[in-house]
Amino acid sequence: MCGIVGYVGPKQAQGVVVEGLRRLEYRGYDSAGIALVHAGSIASDKRAGKLANLDKALADNPLPEATTGIGHTRWATHGAPNDRNAHPHLGQRRRVALVHNGIIENFALLRAELEDAGHDLLSETDTEVASHLLEVELAGGVNLTEGMQRVCRRLEGAFTLVAVDGEDPDRVVAARRNSPLVVGVGDGENFLASDVAAFIEHTREALELGQDQVVTITREGVEVTDFHGAPADATPYHVDWDLSAAEKDGYDWFMRKEIFEQPRAVADTLLGRHDENGALQLDEIRISEEELREVDKIIVIASGTSFYAGMVAKYAIEHWTRIACEVELASEFRYRDPILTRSTLVVAISQSGETADTLMAIRHAREQRAKVLAICNTNGSTIPRESDAVIYTHAGPEIGVASTKGFTTQLVACYLLGLYLAQVRGTRYGDEIAQVVDQIQHVPDKIQQVLDRAEEIYGLARRLADSRSVLFLGRHVGYPVALEGALKLKELAYIHAEGFAAGELKHGPIALVEDQLPVFCVVPPRGRDFLHDKMISGIQEVRARGARTIVLAEEGDAVVEPYADVLIRLPRVPTLLQPLLSVIPLQLFALELAAHKGLDVDQPRNLAKSVTVE
Ligand code: F6R
Repeated sequence: MCGIVGYVGPKQAQGVVVEGLRRLEYRGYDSAGIALVHAGSIASDKRAGKLANLDKALADNPLPEATTGIGHTRWATHGAPNDRNAHPHLGQRRRVALVHNGIIENFALLRAELEDAGHDLLSETDTEVASHLLEVELAGGVNLTEGMQRVCRRLEGAFTLVAVDGEDPDRVVAARRNSPLVVGVGDGENFLASDVAAFIEHTREALELGQDQVVTITREGVEVTDFHGAPADATPYHVDWDLSAAEKDGYDWFMRKEIFEQPRAVADTLLGRHDENGALQLDEIRISEEELREVDKIIVIASGTSFYAGMVAKYAIEHWTRIACEVELASEFRYRDPILTRSTLVVAISQSGETADTLMAIRHAREQRAKVLAICNTNGSTIPRESDAVIYTHAGPEIGVASTKGFTTQLVACYLLGLYLAQVRGTRYGDEIAQVVDQIQHVPDKIQQVLDRAEEIYGLARRLADSRSVLFLGRHVGYPVALEGALKLKELAYIHAEGFAAGELKHGPIALVEDQLPVFCVVPPRGRDFLHDKMISGIQEVRARGARTIVLAEEGDAVVEPYADVLIRLPRVPTLLQPLLSVIPLQLFALELAAHKGLDVDQPRNLAKSVTVE
C-alpha cells in the first residue's frame, strides 16, 4: 500500500527512483511523484494516475540532474487521487520534500495548529502536516535526522516517512512505525524502499528495521536511531532472489508468470523440510516440541486469499492433529474479545507480512500471552518479526496484486505445520506422515499437468467473458477454493461472483440460479465418505434450474460426466491436497477473462498489494 523509494549515491537519482517506483507500482497506482535535491533546493513533479503519467511529464519537462531523491506511488487514503494530493508534499518554504505511507491519525489537530500559525496546506492529505512540521524543525536549526525524530514524536498512527532537505544535498532520512521500510546497502550508494524489489537491481544486501526507528542514509553509510536519537540496531540480511524474479520474463502479465511459477514455488517451499524417510524437520520455527505438545487450541488469522488458505488449514490440522482449530478474519479478531491462553497457538498467514489487520491481530494475541507462528513469504517484513516463530514460504516475490503462488505455497506451509504437529504429538504414525509428504512432493508435477492445459481454460474464459454473474460451489476443502475462485474473478474482471458451500445452496443462494448462469463446481475425489455424492446432488440442483456447469473433477471420475457442460480434469490427489490443483484453473480463468476484457490484470482498480492500513 503506497510504494516509497529514497536514493543517495553517484547515479542520476531520477532514473534510480523512477525505476524503483516501477517495481513498487503494484503497491498502489493512484498517483506518483518524485523530488530531487538540486543546487540547494527541491525540484519535484507529481501526477495523478499511473506511473506512466509521471514518466510522460518528466519526459516533456525534465527535472535537473541530481544524485539524491525520493519517490512515491500512491494508494489513496486521505484525499482523492489527483495531482494535488499526490506525494511528495513540500514544506511551506519548499525546503523539504516528504513522502508517506500509512495514516497519520492526529493530522486534523496538527493541521489546525499549522494553519493557526499561518501555514498554507495545499492538499487534503494527512501527509502534508508532516512536511510542514519537519520544515519548522529545520528552521529551528536542527538537521534533517533530528528534525525527523522530533516530528515522529508528535505523530500518531502508522507511517513510513521519507524526506529530503534542499539545503542538505547528500542525506535522505526516513522513519517507520507500523509500516514497511527496508534499507538497501550498496557500495558508495544507499537506498530506502517499502520493499527490496525497488533496489534489487543495485544491491541484494538489506537491513531490516525495527519499530519506531529513524534511519539516515548518505553515500558513505547508514545510521539508525530511535525516535529520541539513541542509536538502534537494524538486522542485515541477504535477499535470496534477484532481478529476474522481479521481471516479467517474457510473460504479458506478472500474474500469468506467477501462476506458471507454482510448480517451482511449491517444490521450493517443501525443500529441506523433511528427511529422506519423510519425517518433518521444522526446527526453524523456534517453538519447542514441549510447547507444541501443550497447545490445546489453534486459531488461524489472515485476510483475503490468505484467509482461504487458513480455511483449508483448519480441515487438515484438525484431521491430522485432533486439536480444535478456528479460522478468523484478522480484521474481526481483536474486536470480539477472543479467548486466548498460553496454550493457544495463533497461526498468522500473510504473503506480504505487512497486512495491518493481521499485524494488529497478532499483537493482540501476544498481549494475551498466546504463541504466534507466522506463515509468510516476505523476509524482513513486520509480521514474522513480531511473531514467536515463522515458516517462510519460498514463492519468490509476488508482484501481481492478486495472490496466486502466494496461496498455493501457504497451503503447503499449512500442511507441513499440520503434519509436524501430528508428528510431535504422536497423533499420526510416521508412515502415514511420510506418505502424505510423498504425495505433496508429487504435486508440482501435477500442477504442471493442469497448467499444460491452460488453453482449454483460456478458451472457456473468452466464451464466458460477457457473463454478468458467476457462482462457485465446493464442499469440504473445495469450499474455500470456491471462495477463492470467486474472489479472483471479482477483483480481476469486476464480475459479480460468489462462492458457496454446496450444501448451503438450498438454504438461500439457489434463488440466484437462472438460465445459463455459469456455475463452477469443485468436485472432491471419490473417497470412502459421501462427499463426492453430496457434491453431485448440489450440481444436479443447479442444473435443474438451467445453470451451465463447469465441473472440476479428478481424472477417471466418470460419475460427473452427465452433469458437466464443461469438464476440467484434475490429476488425482487425496481430498485434503486437492486445493493445490483445483485452484489453478480458477486462477487461469479469472486472469484470462480480465485480460480478454482489456483490463489491467496486475493492477486491478481500487486495489493495492500489501494493505498496510486497517
Ligand atoms: C487477493 C489478495 C488479497 C490478499 C490479502 C492478504 O488476491 O491478494 O486478498 O490475500 O490482502 O494479504 P497478505 O497475505 O499479504 O496478508
